[in-house]
Amino acid sequence: MIAATIFIASLYALSLGKPLSHPLQRRDVLEDIPNGFKWSSTPSPSTVLQMRLALVQSDPAGLERALYDVSTPSSPSYGNYLTREEAAAFVAPTSETQQAVNAWLAEHNITATPLTPAGDSLSFDVPVSMANEIFGANFSVYTHEATGNQAIRTLGYSIPADLEGHVDFVHPTTVFPVYKIGRSPAVTMLAANLTPEAVPSSCATSITPACLQGLYGIPTTPATQPSNKIGVAGFIEQYANEADLMQFLERYRPDVPPSSGFSVASIAGGQNLQTPGLAGEEANLDIQYTVGIATNVSNIFLTVGGDPLDGFTAFMNFVEFLLSELDPPQVVSVSYGFDEVVWPQSYAFPMCTSLGQLALRGVSILYASGDAGVSGFQGSINCINSAFIPTFPSTCPYVTSVGGTTGIIPETAATLSSGGFSNYFAFPDYQASAVSSYLSSIGSLNTGKFQPAGRAFPDISAQAERYQIAWRGEIYQVSGTSASTPVVASIIALINDELAAAGKPPLGFLNPLLYANPSVLTDITSGSNPGCGTNGFPALPGWDPVTGLGTPNFSSLRTLAGL
Ligand SMILES: *[C@@H]1O[C@H](CO)[C@@H](O)[C@H](O)[C@H]1NC(C)=O
Ligand SMILES: *[C@@H]1O[C@H](CO)[C@@H](O)[C@H](O)[C@H]1NC(C)=O
Ligand SMILES: *[C@@H]1O[C@H](CO)[C@@H](O)[C@H](O)[C@H]1NC(C)=O
Ligand SMILES: *[C@@H]1O[C@H](CO)[C@@H](O)[C@H](O)[C@H]1NC(C)=O
Repeated sequence: MIAATIFIASLYALSLGKPLSHPLQRRDVLEDIPNGFKWSSTPSPSTVLQMRLALVQSDPAGLERALYDVSTPSSPSYGNYLTREEAAAFVAPTSETQQAVNAWLAEHNITATPLTPAGDSLSFDVPVSMANEIFGANFSVYTHEATGNQAIRTLGYSIPADLEGHVDFVHPTTVFPVYKIGRSPAVTMLAANLTPEAVPSSCATSITPACLQGLYGIPTTPATQPSNKIGVAGFIEQYANEADLMQFLERYRPDVPPSSGFSVASIAGGQNLQTPGLAGEEANLDIQYTVGIATNVSNIFLTVGGDPLDGFTAFMNFVEFLLSELDPPQVVSVSYGFDEVVWPQSYAFPMCTSLGQLALRGVSILYASGDAGVSGFQGSINCINSAFIPTFPSTCPYVTSVGGTTGIIPETAATLSSGGFSNYFAFPDYQASAVSSYLSSIGSLNTGKFQPAGRAFPDISAQAERYQIAWRGEIYQVSGTSASTPVVASIIALINDELAAAGKPPLGFLNPLLYANPSVLTDITSGSNPGCGTNGFPALPGWDPVTGLGTPNFSSLRTLAGL
């Protein structure tokens, strides 16, 4: 799990006169400043850094076993979700880890705050001068040349040798932000190609809630259970506008009160400013297609603040907030993601396990698969003639990844739909047979461009193109798996509502259930997801890495849920 760690030499870097009780061990050394950045200046020694220490999680394998126990329909424990504390116990650092880390923090008079109930992630503030000393680092201000954004990072850092095996990573250190040129930074927005469209003509050319209700058999009847909630993630200062939502509902859901709204949970200082010009098209899309489809389900916009340019921290803050909640939303929809390759492996494993902890508590976590076919989340990395680019967190085996379709009756794969195979995570048992059937049907196609033993994604899909949204007072069309994700999440939330009304547990982690019952989805068998100078993968009968198992069929899912 710490494959990215590079051990070079022990470094005895503390200044003279101080006891050397903890020799430092060098790790994570960058040979060069990452591409696109240049060294700018030495920060003031008193500049405060908010550091995060990820402690080694004690039993991720046990967590995985427990997760499959509660989410595999044939298991006697199916639906017996764990409490916050029970789930946290799997990742709580061992007492050895806690003692080693606490002793080290105490020696430096650092008071750390646990960021999660398990205490596997700690935060503390230190001035640059002290951070340089305790981590044997040279924190500097680096400027991202294309955007002018600045970040304080170091090209190497050390931790005391006796903390080896106890600390997964320290952030921010050597992992630089991932900026996309233009205004969309680390956590990128999916919606693209905005073109004003006056009047929706038909579902073949413009998708509305009525189209989705018709295509997937989604009821319009209001949900009734106050305990049932859907959470909608917001990053990069994307704000969900209330007036736009009202306009959207008046136009596309005239049968519901236009005041049907959402509540806001602020994470890391996140806001939801209502200035019309600050309405975000992504946030509006996500809120309009959850409020508009999951009728009367209690809707929480989870808006994440902090440095919008540090997507790693934003994603961690988001998951830590949910882990800390006693009653997190039973369904969480996230239309943001990364190319897997830019999310360091040492960061990806603990993040995935944290998502697994939520799943173990009965939370269905849905992530958009991405919008650039096999060339990644947004196709921002040049992959012509090279390997395909999977996306994260879709490649985490404990989430449900949502791909995209287009056209109606029959639907076909949307060419934008990202899908493929992880380079970090092995495929889980629940998808082994579906994926091996697919691999044998494609033969040698794309051999060498993907890791056939990797976790394959997406798992499910839904319409992804030409969604009508209200944005800044006008109607626009947007496309992306950003659109598909809130729709699938809404369907699950409506089924959870009926389950709650019947006194049953929510659906929780969906994948073992879906892969064991693929016929509850409508199989998509045509189209493909080109990228990297290839035609990508074809959609074929059965699971495929473009549309997953297929698109939802509400009544079949409902029956499968025992309703
Ligand atoms: C920690 O605090 C104690 C008591 O205030 C002080 O004596 C000691 O020098 C401090 N140590 C460091 C490393 O700052
Ligand atoms: C930190 O890095 C900068 C830029 O490479 C260099 O000028 C400076 O000497 C370094 N400081 C230390 C203490 O190594
Ligand atoms: C859902 O599946 C059932 C059973 O196969 C089928 O009769 C029905 O038409 C499907 N509904 C939709 C909306 O596709
Ligand atoms: C909407 O849901 C609430 C519980 O969250 C319930 O009290 C109310 O009756 C529902 N509204 C309708 C119209 O069913």
